[in-house]
Amino acid sequence: MTARRILLGVSGGIAAYKTAELVRLFKKAGAEVKVVMTPDATRFVTPLTMGTLSENEVFIEIFPENESGSWTKHVSLGLWADLFVVAPATAQTLSKLASGACDSMLTAVALTARCPSLLCPAMDHDMYVHAATSNNLETLRARGAFVMEAEFGELASGLVGQGRLPEPQAIFDRALEILKAASLAKTGPLAGKKVLVTAGPTREAIDPVRYISNHSTGTMGYELARSAARRGADVVLVSGPTSLETPKDVRRIDVVTAAEMHQAVKEHVDADIVIMVAAVADYAAATVSTSKIKKDGSNRTLQLEPTVDILASLGASKSSGQLLVGFALETDNQVENATDKLNRKNLDWIILNNPKEDGAGFGTGTNRVTLLSKQGKVIELPKMPKDEVAEAILELVS
Ligand code: CTP
Repeated sequence: MTARRILLGVSGGIAAYKTAELVRLFKKAGAEVKVVMTPDATRFVTPLTMGTLSENEVFIEIFPENESGSWTKHVSLGLWADLFVVAPATAQTLSKLASGACDSMLTAVALTARCPSLLCPAMDHDMYVHAATSNNLETLRARGAFVMEAEFGELASGLVGQGRLPEPQAIFDRALEILKAASLAKTGPLAGKKVLVTAGPTREAIDPVRYISNHSTGTMGYELARSAARRGADVVLVSGPTSLETPKDVRRIDVVTAAEMHQAVKEHVDADIVIMVAAVADYAAATVSTSKIKKDGSNRTLQLEPTVDILASLGASKSSGQLLVGFALETDNQVENATDKLNRKNLDWIILNNPKEDGAGFGTGTNRVTLLSKQGKVIELPKMPKDEVAEAILELVS
């Protein structure tokens, strides 16, 4: 569920209150959640509750209150999502979804979402078993929607019958199953493989306003993540601070420090291929000042201590089926130093570049790299745009 993008549509039924717990479950599992509510749903659970739990703005109307604002959110939200869950889906909302009516943000988003959708109907028993509702559900199923049958039990009307919303945990489990299946159904040479890429710089605080970092922009790592996703892989991108957009179909986890990056990497150590492109700061301040250090001249010495070498720790515990790729930025004795890193960190490949060379390294749109393998292969690539370098690297490693 990590960094999966869940769009939760809540329509107006008493079971809407249960979706607050559902948001909590998704968030706890590491997903990003955005909530859209029908105007009637706000009678049962407040947008403030859903906004606070999801840590995102809640959308209700298609047209913004501020008329000069953007009104195309229904398109961007639909494209953003990895999974659209409608819970509870009332009889009215199901009818609108089946007919294609789009009078609220929820129903409009249903028409723009390209991801799978999971509908969780909840309503009174007679409404649920009515031929109109059954026909609507049939239509939606035939269009590819996943439907969770309502449960049997006591209903808000006092009647007993089928119509209860399944428990949040059951909806969560079904959502996870659908996401897993969608990821396995991908095609391409890396389909069914999990690829972990790290990118960008890390930042180590000195005091509340200053930090140690480097010039990495993250471009090379983002291109590798994009290229792996295009080849059908399930891609997790652990990214230091950058200004880049998340590539399509890539799960991104944002981190700041080397320690945070290490933690995020450890959670995805089951990846089949790991490509460590991040320019991890090698040292951090031994103590981080809680107040801004003043220039009174009293102490100008910064004590440093090494950060954890993430790649070396991955190499030390590498499983036999895993492919480990590192990057080396070398200005002198390039091949010798890179080969030493390849062996020392127990890598399968190391990708060498020299930031001093024209059109290579940080902040350029191009790169010129040499690939060195554990078996002693040396492949020199000419200077190319970074997206083509990424393609060439993935062609080789996959
Ligand atoms: N790396 C890492 N953790 C660190 C430092 C580096 O995982 N704390 C990874 C980088 O992502 C890269 C590789 O190690 O894939 C090489 O990084 P580099 O900084 O060039 O190598 P170092 O081993 O730190 O050696 P040196 O600074 O002496 O060149």
